[in-house]
Amino acid sequence: DEKPLVFDVSVLRHQPDIPKQFIWPDEERPCANASDLPVPLIDLGGFLSKDPTASMEASRFVGEACQKHGFFLVVNHGVDAGLISDAHKYTDSFFGLPLSEKQRAQRKLGEHCGYASSFTGRFSCKLPWKETLSFSYSAEKSSSNVVEDYFNNTMGEEFEQFGRVYQDYCEAMSTLSLGIMELLGMSLGIGRDHFREFFEGNDSIMRLNYYPPCQKPDLTLGTGPHCDPTSLTILHQDQVGGLQVFVDNEWRSISPNVNAFVVNIGDTFMALSNGLYKSCLHRAVVNSQTPRKSLAFFLCPRNDKVVRPPSELVETSCPRAYPDFTWPMLHEFTQKHYRADMNTLRVFT
Ligand code: SIN
Ligand code: FE2
Repeated sequence: DEKPLVFDVSVLRHQPDIPKQFIWPDEERPCANASDLPVPLIDLGGFLSKDPTASMEASRFVGEACQKHGFFLVVNHGVDAGLISDAHKYTDSFFGLPLSEKQRAQRKLGEHCGYASSFTGRFSCKLPWKETLSFSYSAEKSSSNVVEDYFNNTMGEEFEQFGRVYQDYCEAMSTLSLGIMELLGMSLGIGRDHFREFFEGNDSIMRLNYYPPCQKPDLTLGTGPHCDPTSLTILHQDQVGGLQVFVDNEWRSISPNVNAFVVNIGDTFMALSNGLYKSCLHRAVVNSQTPRKSLAFFLCPRNDKVVRPPSELVETSCPRAYPDFTWPMLHEFTQKHYRADMNTLRVFT
């Protein structure tokens, strides 16, 4: 048995050429000048202070965006700016560690959580130019320390503060996503409680993405094209930029706005809305100058919840678009797919 190849992008970032495993086929390479996608910038201030007119308006904008491509931005979201900046600061510290230390949290084959960089078997291709750290979050009261415990158990007691920051950050993301679930319910005409209740006690996933600079950014991708299999993604990208969405047969960029979160619909919510709301293909490009960070919170239903649209959204003119499933069933499927075929657009990277 040959040992798998190991690529460390944090070392490769300085090299003028990149290994062939990182070179993407012509037709998938980044386009030189993707234009900005005009996504609605939704002010949540009025909604969060329970103003009925502002809430209706916010839900209308959310609904319009979700029918088109499923991407929108939220500002005045109620998440503390200091917490967001701490979350970025600790992401910098983590990825700045020597590889051997990051590997204390090394993600094992078949597991969802842990540190991953571009490690591969000898036949791999289309490798993503990035490093990630993923961990689970649970909104159940009985699991109120899962993130803190994760950092303590994998990285050691010196990482206690990391655990605390990301525990707080995930809690803020869970709260924000339940608010957005109210707006989604209102926009679909089923009231604000249905989806909020469905996602109470959610078993979600947090992922820190770090994209080192690359000397051949035109040949590679930071994150390949994929749809999120999860329910709702709340992303905070830094000021560098690199997120692109495939709309009307074209790659368009979502320009950075540090005051905003980028929110998008994933496959699981597409199923919950009986196909009315879109989960859209997206990717991330890299550049030759500046490292880029993004923090992604993936809202997922509690593991035992059956994903099924509310009866109001199922009619003879609009029959069930997807069968019943649970999040762990879909998650396992996407993970298997990922290992079997890196060409798939359904890769959960
Ligand atoms: C992702 O969609 O997985 C990453 C997006 C980003 O880094 O902007
Ligand atoms: Fe994604």
